[in-house]
Amino acid sequence: MHKNITIIVAEDYETMSHKAAEIFAESITANPNKSFGFATGATPVGMYKNLVKLHKQENLDFSGVSTFNLDEYHPLAPDSPQSYRQFMYDNLFSHVNINKNNIFIPDSKAADPHMEAKEYEAKIENKGGIEMQILGIGLNGHIGFNEPNETFDANTRYTPLAKATIESNARHFASAEDVPTNAITMGIRSIMLARHILLLANGVNKATILRDALLGAITPLVPASILQLHQSVTVVIDKEAATLL
Ligand code: GLP
Repeated sequence: MHKNITIIVAEDYETMSHKAAEIFAESITANPNKSFGFATGATPVGMYKNLVKLHKQENLDFSGVSTFNLDEYHPLAPDSPQSYRQFMYDNLFSHVNINKNNIFIPDSKAADPHMEAKEYEAKIENKGGIEMQILGIGLNGHIGFNEPNETFDANTRYTPLAKATIESNARHFASAEDVPTNAITMGIRSIMLARHILLLANGVNKATILRDALLGAITPLVPASILQLHQSVTVVIDKEAATLL
């Protein structure tokens, strides 16, 4: 295992979520005016619950932080229950003292999604880059919506979704046909520029891809494998996801 990767194996999802929230909260407390990168998906929901708890019970202060989400479907109504904007408000932003002017999520309705992606990248840079980026991992190794075979030097961009991703995300929509075919995502390069990465995964169905990503060859076929070259990665996973490491 690479020296730059710390792996924390938690007993179960609850413990994993608690530990991840603790690490993230420490970073916010140490860097109260910096930018932080957020992810959606089922994986970080427990961590967000714990962050809300830390805010309510221990005054964890979000008032100075800026937030950048990894990705967003396009096109999709921003208030659609499946939009990542809606997800973030429901799970975190509505429950903590984040300044709404400092919340950045790619615009799911942007008339020119290519331009939106370019401007998003520039905003991250203008806000000083990302201190800590939360990541989940897709079953095909995607991070954000960087699908297999995307180049490692990609910036934030408008991109088609892989068939496997549309099928996997269909569970959140009425049917696979309702899943948007495209998204705006931070690129691998944008993600690699974050000063720290906090990767979460749980459940036995993530065990194989975690092994490939963390111990396998560094290849665009497994987008998350590039994290082996990042200077500071903390992986917090449950026992089931850790079975092949
Ligand atoms: C989605 C998101 C990713 C997320 C991944 C895993 O498609 N774009 O950011 O990490 O899939 O999702 P889950 O946590 O639900 O397994």
